[in-house]
Amino acid sequence: MNTASSDQLLNDVVMLLCRCISLQKLYFENHPQVNKYQDELKNKLDLFFTTTGHEQLFIGIVDNSFIYEGKKLIGPSVVGKQFMMTAEMLCCGGIIFTHPVGADEMKRFFKIAVSLREPLANIKEARQLLQQNGITQIILANAYEDTSVRALAENKEAWQGKDSAGLLESPTLVYQALFDMVSRAHGAAAVQNSVDLENAMAVSEFMLQFIRDQFSDIMQHVVYPDYDNYTIGHSVRVAALAVYAGIQFGWDNKYLLDLGRAALLHDIGKSGISGDILFKHGPLNAEERYLIEQHCRTGAEILLSHDDATPLDITAAWGHHLRYDGKGYPPQPDFVTLHPVTGILHICDVFEALTAVRPYKEAITPKEAYAIMMHDKGAFHPALLASFIHIVGLYPPGTFVTLSDNRTATVIRAGTELDRPAVRILRDKQNDDTSDQKSGYIVDLSHPEHQNISIARLDLRYIGQ
Ligand SMILES: [Fe+2]
Ligand SMILES: [Fe+2]
Repeated sequence: MNTASSDQLLNDVVMLLCRCISLQKLYFENHPQVNKYQDELKNKLDLFFTTTGHEQLFIGIVDNSFIYEGKKLIGPSVVGKQFMMTAEMLCCGGIIFTHPVGADEMKRFFKIAVSLREPLANIKEARQLLQQNGITQIILANAYEDTSVRALAENKEAWQGKDSAGLLESPTLVYQALFDMVSRAHGAAAVQNSVDLENAMAVSEFMLQFIRDQFSDIMQHVVYPDYDNYTIGHSVRVAALAVYAGIQFGWDNKYLLDLGRAALLHDIGKSGISGDILFKHGPLNAEERYLIEQHCRTGAEILLSHDDATPLDITAAWGHHLRYDGKGYPPQPDFVTLHPVTGILHICDVFEALTAVRPYKEAITPKEAYAIMMHDKGAFHPALLASFIHIVGLYPPGTFVTLSDNRTATVIRAGTELDRPAVRILRDKQNDDTSDQKSGYIVDLSHPEHQNISIARLDLRYIGQ
């Protein structure tokens, strides 16, 4: 077997491992998606063993990178944070899969992997836990000691999007990578006031690449109702929307990358606010409101304490609740002029908050959200708001719709008319699943050929339901 195909197989195995952990976290146990990818992982692992003749597969983890036979796996390392967090919880330096790994054993391993909320005491305890659950073919390795590999891992290069073509076909992993990055940044900011800005930039590069090609796929995932963590999901959604808007406005690459990072971290100041206030169901009293409003100042202060934070990072954290009429918070003197990025972030922030599910409210439709935003005179730059509505449309990319001829579809991009986007058909009139046949099933409702079809209904549902 040639090296290229064994590399591909290995890449597939690592990607599937990451995907299985991500899916297990997103969906309930035994969800069809979870089962499908666990089966696929088992098949790929078997294929790896039979084609390479190896009896074991050892995947090491060093300084947030996957290592295989002394090589750093760059692509999977960017999106595989969930898998790395699992290894951290299990206090190990890698995982060894021994041929053959049974399907049930694999299932039990993933169940344990996602149930751990904090690291076990040591690797001995972790090994015992696996043993008690009858897991014998998946072995926890000690910390990886190869110093040449450690040196390699320290040479941090941002992912360039070239080394793993399959990566961009996994919206779940991309979403999970974004979610993990923001979640870790908030955790680190809360505990030690520090944020890994370099990692945030690598993730922003990754997000930009993905949004260019598959914005609708990522937005399907960002509607997931992450009740416990909605500040994180909100940050990811706001960043995705802001970068998408920036792409449509023709902003250059460098600026989009900076914008992506700034947007992912815009609410970093909320990391210090207690969950009781942040997630309070009823109205806030004056003191609670004051504390919440402090998050802009706190966020800017956290970022100011980092030498590598850009002015844009700080501006975004400080100014994303400023209104076009000079009101909003934190209060500004009259001579301050607004930065365009705070203008677009403010729009994305409010739009996201209105159209997302929260523990205390249902989502409203984009149309209703626009109506509320337009009625709030002076809140937004009128031309910027009009542009935003034009590029996002009444049916934003990633939303599910039912067409007038009863086919169901997902929106892939806004059309020239607000209510006539381009859609990908998911189920045809006979209710047959067509979602795998991606090409050829795109219907552009703005095209004269489809003028007799319209959107009958917007389906506010979540992926996988
Ligand atoms: Fe905010
Ligand atoms: Fe926000």
